[in-house]
Formats: sequence, C-alpha cells, structure tokens
Amino acid sequence: MSIRSILIHPDPRLKAVADPVVEVDKDLRKLADDMLETMYNAPGIGLAAPQVGVGKRLLVMDCVKEEGAPPRPMVLINPEVVWASDETNVYEEGCLSIPDQYADVERPAEVEVSWMDLDGKAQKERFDGLWATCVQHEIDHLHGKLFIDYLKPLKRQMITRKMVKLKRERARL
Ligand code: NI
Repeated sequence: MSIRSILIHPDPRLKAVADPVVEVDKDLRKLADDMLETMYNAPGIGLAAPQVGVGKRLLVMDCVKEEGAPPRPMVLINPEVVWASDETNVYEEGCLSIPDQYADVERPAEVEVSWMDLDGKAQKERFDGLWATCVQHEIDHLHGKLFIDYLKPLKRQMITRKMVKLKRERARL
C-alpha cells in the first residue's frame, strides 16, 4: 500500500465527471487499498478517486468515531443514491481537497445507496448520521461537485482564493 497525494482545489480533475468502473482488477484493488491508507493517514473519513487524480467512480470511507470501536473501511464502486429522505440534516463539512475550511451543508438525513464491492457483488445499504453526509459528499466528488458548491458565491470565492494561496505556498517549498 502507498499513500497517494491528494489534489487541492481548484483543480480541473476535481470538477470532472468520473467514469464508471467496468472491471474490478488488480489495479483497482491497489487503488482502493492506497485510497484507504491515504484517507486514514490524512486523517479523513472519506476519499473519492478523483481526489487522487483518478477519474473513476470509486470511493472509500470509514465514519466510525467512537473511541476504541473497530474500524469499518468501506470501498464503494459505482455508487448511486437510490433513495433519499425528505428529512434533512446540517453538518459542518470539510474536505481533504480543501484543507482547514469548514462550512454547514444541508443534505438528506438518510440515504439508500447501491454499489458494487471489490468482489464484484452488488450491495445496498441505508446510511444515516455522519455516514449519510459522508457518502453523499463523496458521491458528489464523482460528479465533479465539492461541498463549497452548496455555499453562497461570496463564501465559495473566499475559500477558493485561500486555496490558490495555499497551493502557491506549497509549490514554493
Ligand atoms: Ni471531499
């Protein structure tokens, strides 16, 4: 396993629509392993393939927060929201591609998601709480959408300017 570098917004690869995965092969398994390691290392609770520069419909997540609880690493291939509750939830979201920036985002409180697992088997599960927010945030990445796209333009521009500055500083190092 190896840690991959995470793209920072703004980057055209974060705005692109990802392609469906056609086949689960060795390269895809390696990508999923690397993404989990990259996510835990960050640390973060979710990561989508476009964030490591791979335009494929793949995401990883683990939203277990309880101290001492066993981790639950999940790999979702070609995930789709098949049902969303009318009830909504507001969470303060962040993103590994937008470091140190947080904002409230309102989303359906519960969603049912279908996907394919690493064995090529169809899966379906209902998520709530932080898991629901996380899976929707990560699926958005597969559509080239970031959480700041839900914010007012002024706030979004302010965050984008900070990220441009951050990237410039990092490039100088
Ligand atoms: Ni994100």
